[in-house]
Parts: sequence; C-alpha cells; structure tokens
Amino acid sequence: MPISASRGGLRSGRKAPLGPADRVPTLPEVNKFDAGRGVPVATACDYKERNRPLPGAPLAKSAKQIKPLPIYILNGPTLNLLGTREPEIYGRTTLPEIGRMVAARAKSHGLTTVFRQSNHEGQLIDWIQEARMKGCGVILNGGAYTHTSIAIYDALKSLDKPIIEVHLSNPHARERFRHRSFVSMVANGVIVGLGAQGYLAAVEAMATLIKGQS
Ligand code: DQA
Repeated sequence: MPISASRGGLRSGRKAPLGPADRVPTLPEVNKFDAGRGVPVATACDYKERNRPLPGAPLAKSAKQIKPLPIYILNGPTLNLLGTREPEIYGRTTLPEIGRMVAARAKSHGLTTVFRQSNHEGQLIDWIQEARMKGCGVILNGGAYTHTSIAIYDALKSLDKPIIEVHLSNPHARERFRHRSFVSMVANGVIVGLGAQGYLAAVEAMATLIKGQS
C-alpha cells in the first residue's frame, strides 16, 4: 500500500502511528541520495569506491555505470571580462576558453566539470553549498572576494571536499590588500601567477586528490 494511503488517519484528524517508512532518515542516509532525483550518489567524491566493482559484477560494466561527481570550478567577480580586462595582468584568454580547456583536461582523467562565474557573493556561496552534494571538489578563483569574504570562507569550511584556490595573477606580488586570502585558509592547495594554465594545474591537482581518496 502506498505510504499516503496508509496515512488515512491524517485525513480524519488522527495521526497514524509512525511506521518504518515514516522514520526520519539519518544524515548519512540522506547524503546517500540525491534529493532531487532520488538516485544514489556518493557522499564524498569516493572515486575509487564508485568505480570499485560490486561483488560478482563484471568490472567493465561497473566502471562504466558509476560516474564520479563533477569538479565544481567557480569564478568570482569580474572574471567574466577576462580577455579584455587588464590583459597585461590577466592575459588574453577568455573565461569560456578556460572553461573548454578545463573540461578537456578533466575528461582526460575521466572527470567532468561544472564551470560557472558570478559577480555575486551569495551566488558563489549557493554553488559551494551545491557542491557539498553534487560535486567532488571545488576549484575556486574568488576574484576580489578572496581577500574580503568571511562568508565564502565559512561556506568552504563546511564543504568537506578538496578545495584548490586559483589566481591568474600572483596576488602576493601585487597590492598589499591582495596578500590576505580567506580561501587559502581552507584550501588544500593554492596556484597563483600561471595565468590560464593555472586552471589546468588545478584540475591536475584535483584529479590526484580525488583519486587518492578512499
Ligand atoms: C584574481 C586576483 C584578485 O586579486 C583579483 O581581485 C581578481 C583576479 C586573479 O585571478 O588573479 O579579480 O583572482
């Protein structure tokens, strides 16, 4: 009988006694399911776990069926102007070009990317929170929020997945206000001053971190 039908008592104002189907799931149980689609997903980016054959299952089939979660690559304010914004500092490669480069590099490791940019702090925080369930790690160029945002620091702190900070320029060789990074305080690694290539280095590092897990 469907759960709703077994709750006929609710309609008559009486609560039906709680059955096993009504039990509040524990957090680990909740994490095992993608709330939107109701399909099992990994709690962390347990790459090896997701690609380990089930007992008795043929290896090739198992490896094909279970895909690792994507790497979230998030870009902060004014990075949408890359290519034309102070090219002597940030280079001439545009953000969409970087997006294509990282997707190709991730693919070479059997990984995928979610590549996004926002000028808004809250939007970046929402995406970091999304990555808790749907991503296997975050590569973040927080732009100027890097140096100011305790809110992004807090969001990253609750992520519990690998974090790599990237900057096209080398903030330490620039104005003093760029020397402090709230992101560095929670990042596994930091890549600065390599231009667009830094994003590729970050994907390489992330792939190593992900595959080293579990
Ligand atoms: C930047 C460095 C930041 O200091 C600056 O505010 C940016 C870009 C970089 O990629 O070099 O917007 O994050």
